[in-house]
Amino acid sequence: MTTLIIGAHGQIGQLLVKELADHHQKPKAMVRNKQQAEAVRSLGADPVIADLEADFAHAFEGCDKVVFTAGSGAKTGPDKTILVDLWGAIKAVDIAKAKGIKQFVMVSSRGAEDPEAGPTKIKHYTVCKKLADDHLLASGVPYTILRPGRLTDDDATGRVRSQWPDNADDQWISRADVALAIEHCLDSPGTLGKVYPLFHGEQPISACLG
Ligand SMILES: NC(=O)c1ccc[n+]([C@@H]2O[C@H](COP(=O)([O-])OP(=O)(O)OC[C@H]3O[C@@H](n4cnc5c(N)ncnc54)[C@H](OP(=O)(O)O)[C@@H]3O)[C@@H](O)[C@H]2O)c1
Repeated sequence: MTTLIIGAHGQIGQLLVKELADHHQKPKAMVRNKQQAEAVRSLGADPVIADLEADFAHAFEGCDKVVFTAGSGAKTGPDKTILVDLWGAIKAVDIAKAKGIKQFVMVSSRGAEDPEAGPTKIKHYTVCKKLADDHLLASGVPYTILRPGRLTDDDATGRVRSQWPDNADDQWISRADVALAIEHCLDSPGTLGKVYPLFHGEQPISACLG
């Protein structure tokens, strides 16, 4: 099994590359330039240079599974949220379908379940994440959708929760634990067809997501 990581040079992406490579599951890492390609190669990945805003179907060659953990980030405007987080994800799902990909793990976001209920300031983002998730759900591609809370740079704990915490201040999770959760999903057929809210917590990942 070879997994394509879209967004492999991102913060979750690099943690996931290292995790999979450490467990002898060398991933294919989609990155945007040669420098990034060398960086992910040094972490143990097989790099492929491609851009979600261009034709990137070649990145899927030789891959059975896909993780989408790309994002335009907070420093760009809503135009890039549409082109990368929404349109890029939709195109990735369509290519996955055409290629017969066996599992598509989407790193979505808390708030994507109901953008109307969340803050107006990030509504353009949660709407894009919801529409991308909806496209995956309707596509027929085997999926797992993770909806993490606010991302932090804390160390991995291997423990999470998939129920919403009562307190809004608790709606966070480390990128390192998201990477471990993705790795678990790739290894666990029981996570297929599931949508998981994801926050820091007390349950081992394998007990919580399955
Ligand atoms: N921040 C939060 O609190 C939060 C909460 C829930 C979910 N999320 C989601 O978590 C995911 C990853 O988070 P992160 O912290 O790892 O983000 P990150 O470090 O910003 O990584 C995002 C990656 O996407 C890549 N990317 C952007 N535009 C691209 C394009 N046109 N083509 C190909 N790749 C492109 C970036 O490439 P470059 O390295 O070249 O810029 C970067 O490597 C995202 O899907 C985000 O929406 C975030």
